[in-house]
Amino acid sequence: MNGKIVILTGAGISAESGIKTFRDADGLWENEPVQVVATPEGFEKDPKRVINFYDERRRVLKNAEPNAAHHALVKLEEMYSDNFLLITQNVDDLHQRAGSKRIIPMHGELLKVRCLGAKEHIMSCTENQPEKCPECGAKMRPHIVWFGEIPFEMERIQKALAECALFAYIGTSGVVYPAAGFKQIAKMSGARVVCLNLEEVGGGYTDEFIQGKAGDIVPRWVDGLK
Ligand code: APR
Repeated sequence: MNGKIVILTGAGISAESGIKTFRDADGLWENEPVQVVATPEGFEKDPKRVINFYDERRRVLKNAEPNAAHHALVKLEEMYSDNFLLITQNVDDLHQRAGSKRIIPMHGELLKVRCLGAKEHIMSCTENQPEKCPECGAKMRPHIVWFGEIPFEMERIQKALAECALFAYIGTSGVVYPAAGFKQIAKMSGARVVCLNLEEVGGGYTDEFIQGKAGDIVPRWVDGLK
């Protein structure tokens, strides 16, 4: 395949690693209201509840390992190198632990926190989040993009979508913008659009739908691109 390849992943790619998705049965948003734990207002109102929510997810992540789908995308990156970009909505570090390098964690990273001081110091946090910034003493928050905030590296993402010949979205329900709109941008740029997911997600602009569990269908799909 000539041209650039852009991949977008969502929570479904980490499901087989034991990480809960958001909108499946017993998903994260079934047990914790989004407004309370995933908005700046929620953090303002009850920071302890928000920090507990993210510390619990950090504990779960410690016992999780990348699965065959994460590893298959590393192989794809090795095949396409500079013509490859992985955009993930996930805040777990499973893509990075599998070896993905050309990656944009557009919704932030669970294992990082940043302070609310002027310098916005960012530091790693694998377990319980510190109360105060060790650099400047300011309050700390999860380094996560909450609802109502702008995802990271949107310019770089827009540029990649405008230039790609193949766009695949994997393990995402495609309901949260701006990521949900990426398939349309890619399609309008002339790319072939492929969806790999456990269940069909609507929204058009898709040339091919491959159904199944990511751990099964992604390695097979990558092998087919050789
Ligand atoms: N293999 C492939 N797909 C799967 C698997 C699996 N093993 N398990 C679940 N899925 C699919 C589901 O069918 C669903 O379509 O993964 C998708 C998960 O959808 P969501 O739970 O909505 O997760 P996601 O699309 O990543 O959510 C996007 O919403 O709440 C925000 O910031 C949060 O990044 C998140 C964004």
